[in-house]
Formats: sequence, C-alpha cells, structure tokens
Amino acid sequence: MAQKPVLLVLNLILLCFLSVPCQATALPPHPHHHHQHRSHYRGARPSFLPRRLFVFGDSYADTGNAPMASSSSWKVPYGMTFPGKPSGRYSDGRVLPDFVAKYYGLQSPTPYKFRKFGAERARRYGMNFAIGGTGVFKTLVALPNMTAQIDMFQQVTGEGMYTVDDLHASLALVQLSGNDYAAFLFRTGSFEALPAFIQSVVNQLTINIKRIHGLGIEKVAVTNLPPLGCLPGLTGFTSPRKCVDFINPFVETHNRLLAGAVAVLNNETRTSTFAVANLYDSFTSALGNPTFDRPLEPCCVGINSTYMCGDVDPSRMKMYKVCPSPNSSFFWDMVHPTQRGWKVVFSSLEPTFKHL
Ligand SMILES: *[C@@H]1O[C@H](CO)[C@@H](O)[C@H](O)[C@H]1NC(C)=O
Ligand SMILES: *[C@@H]1O[C@H](CO)[C@@H](O)[C@H](O)[C@H]1NC(C)=O
Ligand SMILES: *[C@@H]1O[C@H](CO)[C@@H](O)[C@H](O)[C@H]1NC(C)=O
Ligand SMILES: *[C@@H]1O[C@H](CO)[C@@H](O)[C@H](O)[C@H]1NC(C)=O
Repeated sequence: MAQKPVLLVLNLILLCFLSVPCQATALPPHPHHHHQHRSHYRGARPSFLPRRLFVFGDSYADTGNAPMASSSSWKVPYGMTFPGKPSGRYSDGRVLPDFVAKYYGLQSPTPYKFRKFGAERARRYGMNFAIGGTGVFKTLVALPNMTAQIDMFQQVTGEGMYTVDDLHASLALVQLSGNDYAAFLFRTGSFEALPAFIQSVVNQLTINIKRIHGLGIEKVAVTNLPPLGCLPGLTGFTSPRKCVDFINPFVETHNRLLAGAVAVLNNETRTSTFAVANLYDSFTSALGNPTFDRPLEPCCVGINSTYMCGDVDPSRMKMYKVCPSPNSSFFWDMVHPTQRGWKVVFSSLEPTFKHL
C-alpha cells in the first residue's frame, strides 16, 4: 500500500480545511435576507418542524466562524456562486446547514462569531458554532473542538438568548467530517492503531450529542463520514482519478460504530431523538449522478501542487484556476463539495430530515 503519499495527502487535506496564508477581508459577513424563505419540503410536512437550528462541527458546516486571516473560506473565489463573494463557507456557495435551514423554512443560523452583529437573526433562527479544521479532539489547528463549541452554546443559552421552549423546538445538526483522523495519521503515521482511535472518536462524538440533547434540544441529526477515499486530495494520486480503496473501510468502521451508538441512545431514551444523516451514501450516490461531468475532478485547483484554490502570489496574481461551470462539478476544492454538490447530497438526505 502506498502509505507515504497517502499520509502526505491526508496532511494536505487537513490544510485544505484551513489553509494559510490569506488576506484579511473586512467584508460585511452576511448576505442579507429581508424575508423568510419559503420552505422546500415536498408533499407531506416533516414530522418535526424545528423553529431554530443549531450547528456544530467543521468546515463542512462552517458558515463564517473560521478566522478571516487564515482560512481559504474567506478567499476569492470561495462564495462566487453565493453570495457572490467570500462569506466564510468552504464552497462556491451554500453548504449543508444552509440547505437544511431552507428546507424547514428558516434562515441559515448566524455564525457564533457574528452573534452580536446578527443578534436578532441569531435569536430567531439559531446559531452555527462549526469551525473549519476542527474535530472532537485536538486537531492540527488551534481552534475550538466540538466540546468547546458546545460550551459556547451552553454559555449563550445561559445568557438567556434562548428559552427552554425555544430549545425544545430546535434541531441540532452535528457534522464531523474527519479532521481527527487526518491529525491522528499525521502525528502517528499508524494505520494499525487507527481502529482503537476510531472507537474513541465515536465515543466522544456520542458524549457530545448526548450533551447537546441534555441541554434541551429536542432532535439531533449527526452526519456520518463521507467516503473520504474519494476526496480529490486523495484521488489526485491516481490517474485517471479513482477512489482510494483502502481508506473507505476505516470510514465504514466509524460509520458502523456511530450507527450502533445512535441506536443505543434512541433505545435508552425510548424516542427517536437522534438520527444519522448518511453522508456516505449520499456522497456515493451524488458521485454517480450523470449531471456531474467527471465527478471526482475538483472545480477550483492550484496551478500546481504548491498552490491551492484561493492562493495568490505576493503580487496578488492568482495561483489557481476555476472550472467554467461550478454547477457541473461535485467537488469545489480538494475536500469540499460545490453548492450544487451539497444540493444533490441534501436531496438524498431529505427523507431523514422529513422523518425526524
Ligand atoms: C477540547 O478543548 C478544550 C480546550 O482546549 C480541552 O480542555 C478539552 O480537553 C478538549 N476536549 C477534548 C474531548 O479533547
Ligand atoms: C434496547 O433496550 C432493551 C431494554 O432495555 C434491551 O433489551 C435491548 O437489548 C436494547 N437494544 C439495543 C439495540 O440496545
Ligand atoms: C509552481 O509554480 C510556480 C510558479 O510558476 C513555480 O515557481 C513553482 O516552482 C511550481 N512548483 C511546482 C512544484 O511545480
Ligand atoms: C445546474 O445543473 C443542473 C443539472 O444539470 C441544472 O438542472 C440546473 O439548471 C443548473 N443550474 C444553473 C444555475 O446553471
């Protein structure tokens, strides 16, 4: 097995979750919405209609919390499709929490970082604590892990921003996408020790979702891992690109343990409080969707291996190129889906959100 290059690439993947350097931008952080979106559920109403959404996790869920000075999510051409400039999302446009909020007729929850600036919206629609590069444990970035994100949530609820009733009618979306594993492999280089570490990640994730529910949120949806071996950061070592097969069994182990833990929790509480949003199957099915040309090919890439999407040289010359139509790509960069990628993924997750 070609473990050396894979380790290098896992490192690269983590860097892509939070890349340096970048120009600080002093943009107003938000697209402004002046009216409530219409919700997009088809047919029957969802069984649970949350009034607010709270989000925890990493770059797959971050809508603005990562530091402007050091995150690719704040660089051009991120945000080119929506809102038309960088907004702190790791995509050309909307990401999963945006689609989930819209489905329930809510505005996307305000990033924790902008809770003062966006206080009214945060009060009304909820808050997003997710931050790129993080995990349940310490990763290679010094940013709040999921425990610390839940601490922030506890702190804002303690300040009286949300009532007990508000929380009771809320949904938490918890997205953990693999930075713990990238950091573990980078530090130890050991695939042999990985199964035990997977168990400890899932145990910690289980503690976290129980705690979120214990703080008063009625329903908790937690994503499982997507097929990480299919991310462009890894498939770039094959030609033509194909999914790196030996990674996905580890992913499947994580997903099997998570599904078991969620089943036990629901059984303990005798409710269906917790649900797994199956990113593994929804990514796999989206990658087989014929409306994506060459689905494993990312849309925005560095001009060579030194550079990544969004990089510029000291004279501000672009060191990346963007495909002609992000709408035809599943992947935006080495790690993250495009807006349309997330849209297609959400369409397969929709039944999960409908039947919470
Ligand atoms: C999360 O981060 C905090 C602050 O750095 C640390 O004290 C805590 O141990 C971390 N939690 C886990 C589960 O690693
Ligand atoms: C569910 O709970 C019952 C009673 O507590 C127990 O007998 C059963 O084994 C549990 N099932 C699972 C999947 O944990
Ligand atoms: C990438 O491109 C830059 C600018 O053209 C060049 O200086 C650098 O050597 C290249 N790096 C690699 C690894 O090809
Ligand atoms: C994006 O692609 C889909 C599928 O090919 C198409 O239905 C849709 O109209 C496209 N949207 C835009 C904005 O081009």
